[in-house]
Amino acid sequence: MSENPIILMERVTRVYKSGSVETPALREVSIRLAAGEMAAIIGPSGSGKSTLMNLMGCLDVPTSGLYEFDGREVGKLSSEEMAELRNRSIGFVFQSFHLLPHATARENVEMPLLFGGMAAKPRRERAMEMLERVGLAPRAHHLPTQLSGGEMQRVAVARALANRPRVILADEPTGNLDSRSGRGIIELFRELWKEGVTVVLITHDLGLARVCPRIMKIQDGRIVHDGADVPVEDETVEEAIRSDPVAVTSVVDSEARLSGWTKVLRSVRGGRGVRGTRGLEPVRG
Ligand SMILES: Nc1ncnc2c1ncn2[C@@H]1O[C@H](COP(=O)(O)OP(=O)(O)O)[C@@H](O)[C@H]1O
Ligand SMILES: [Mg+2]
Repeated sequence: MSENPIILMERVTRVYKSGSVETPALREVSIRLAAGEMAAIIGPSGSGKSTLMNLMGCLDVPTSGLYEFDGREVGKLSSEEMAELRNRSIGFVFQSFHLLPHATARENVEMPLLFGGMAAKPRRERAMEMLERVGLAPRAHHLPTQLSGGEMQRVAVARALANRPRVILADEPTGNLDSRSGRGIIELFRELWKEGVTVVLITHDLGLARVCPRIMKIQDGRIVHDGADVPVEDETVEEAIRSDPVAVTSVVDSEARLSGWTKVLRSVRGGRGVRGTRGLEPVRG
């Protein structure tokens, strides 16, 4: 692993302004990520994860503070230079796949190569190579509607890899997948990481975050945890639910009756959702 940071943020702030309303989505965030690292970013919904990813991915610029991608100050680049940097160095994977519905898997993977100006033949070959990399070569001529969710996300990963980027940024990539397909995607990210790609994974799922060697937590626009494990407080809530779901539910039961237990449970669990807790009912009494 190289010591040079590929992602360097110093006291980065991002304030959204609409009319007279200002929403500070990131507050003085400082992050240093070396090339070749793999990190998870966890945090409740609305905490600033996507805002952070947009900045890391040079899709947006800070309101204040410094952001350098691979030694280049992003705030000083023109929008063309930012687009060029993104296309060449960064692969994006999103929760809802963002595939073109009328293009085949292979054509979808070719898209960033087309923007990069690659000729048709090498473009097709590269796309096939990437589909093979994610185990989907046999589905190359399928349309997205003919693929499962897990397969669509694999196509999106192949597309993210097409330009051989140094960094993969994934924003809740497993959010629309069943847990088995989700694991498969994360396993794929781990393989890429072992091959030297820098990976940043945004997730609600502590189980998935745990496969990353570094875990950062963001809350109210601030980094509140950065370490090799999930934060103790999240560990505690998760452990409590696992070992005694009835006790935890009874604590929130009075509120649950007012607003629905799933919503309450979701907030207790830091926005992680309630998948895998079927059968867990509030205690009546
Ligand atoms: N384009 C925008 N305009 C105004 N406010 C926004 C915009 N995008 C996000 N926000 C606000 O910024 C905060 C952080 O949002 P976001 O980064 O999407 O959080 P997360 O991805 O963790 O759910 C939220 O309060 C959200 O409502
Ligand atoms: Mg988000």
